[in-house]
Amino acid sequence: MKTFRIAVIAGDGIGKEVVPEGIRVLDAAGQRFGFQLAWHFFDWSCEAYLKTGKMMPADGLDQLRPFDAIFLGAVGRPDVPDHISLWGLLIPIRRGFRQYINLRPVRLFEGVETPLKSWKPDQIDFVIVRENNEGEYSNIGGRVYGGTEDEIVIQETVFTRRGVNRVLRFAFDLAGKRKKHLTSATKSNGIIHTMPFWDECFRALSVEFPDVRTDQYHIDILTAHFVVGSIGIAPSANLNPEREYPSMFEPVHGSAPDIAGKRIANPIGQIWSGALMLRHLGIPGAADAVEAAVAATLAQSKIRTPDIGGNASTQELGEAIAMQVSRGQ
Ligand code: NAI
Ligand code: MG
Repeated sequence: MKTFRIAVIAGDGIGKEVVPEGIRVLDAAGQRFGFQLAWHFFDWSCEAYLKTGKMMPADGLDQLRPFDAIFLGAVGRPDVPDHISLWGLLIPIRRGFRQYINLRPVRLFEGVETPLKSWKPDQIDFVIVRENNEGEYSNIGGRVYGGTEDEIVIQETVFTRRGVNRVLRFAFDLAGKRKKHLTSATKSNGIIHTMPFWDECFRALSVEFPDVRTDQYHIDILTAHFVVGSIGIAPSANLNPEREYPSMFEPVHGSAPDIAGKRIANPIGQIWSGALMLRHLGIPGAADAVEAAVAATLAQSKIRTPDIGGNASTQELGEAIAMQVSRGQ
């Protein structure tokens, strides 16, 4: 029987809850299609960071290198700055293994509603205040070795204290005149210099506007809230198309500290990421079967997690999909 060696990094929060369901479903696919997945577990996480000062050991990439693929949950913990969890683990893996493609399929499944469908016009009424002078729209940079294989193109992002504070102040003033609610869109987990600065300025200024309620979201989830059914469904593949290094498969969502430990996280993003992994490993029939089982369960079963309108647990939904995989259509 063909065996694939898979490195598993469950990570933090709901990563630890959805990864076992991904494994359950992929093992069911292995049984049906006659292959084996040899799972090898790494406990690299923010929890490990708090004990050891490192998100992963110095030779972490060397340890991962021999595997056929990496199956990752999510990393992130409220008491560890996001740029540490991201730059200590995810980004070194993505860069070190030249996973330069991030593939994110999007499907609207039967049985899943998009939130926009049921909203009435007066329920959508918000204003976006976008910084319009600085940031990525800067003309600092240039090209070197133009037109050759060595061509380098550099564009600098510019954030100034004056520029950031003036747009934030405008937004606070406007919120104060409207619903007294201001949301900061950030990306301080990935963009480690400018966006943490933005967050600092936002927090500092909020003190001057005690009657304005504030919150802050990474731009990914903020936009997802607007348009998709649940981020809990969305999968992703970090691909090294040349296959010189292992590729990595993980749900789009993060560690969801707000629901971690409640056992209600939707495992479909993890499971679907597993289907992308099977396809990458060259078992497309098994990948199709997992995706079909997800679709069939969503369309036909009452077993669903709260984010998609049910009251099932992570494990119950994982088991329902695994059973569907074993049964076939
Ligand atoms: P998040 O994706 O963890 O959570 C956003 C919202 O979606 C929360 O309300 C959460 O409860 C909900 N949600 C997420 N996954 C869900 C699921 N499977 N089922 C049901 N509901 C789900 O994003 P957030 O809150 O911006 O970040 C939390 C932590 O995760 C941070 O530390 C962040 O840096 C980290 N993160 C890690 C990523 C990764 O490991 N690749 C990606 C994005 C964030
Ligand atoms: Mg993720």
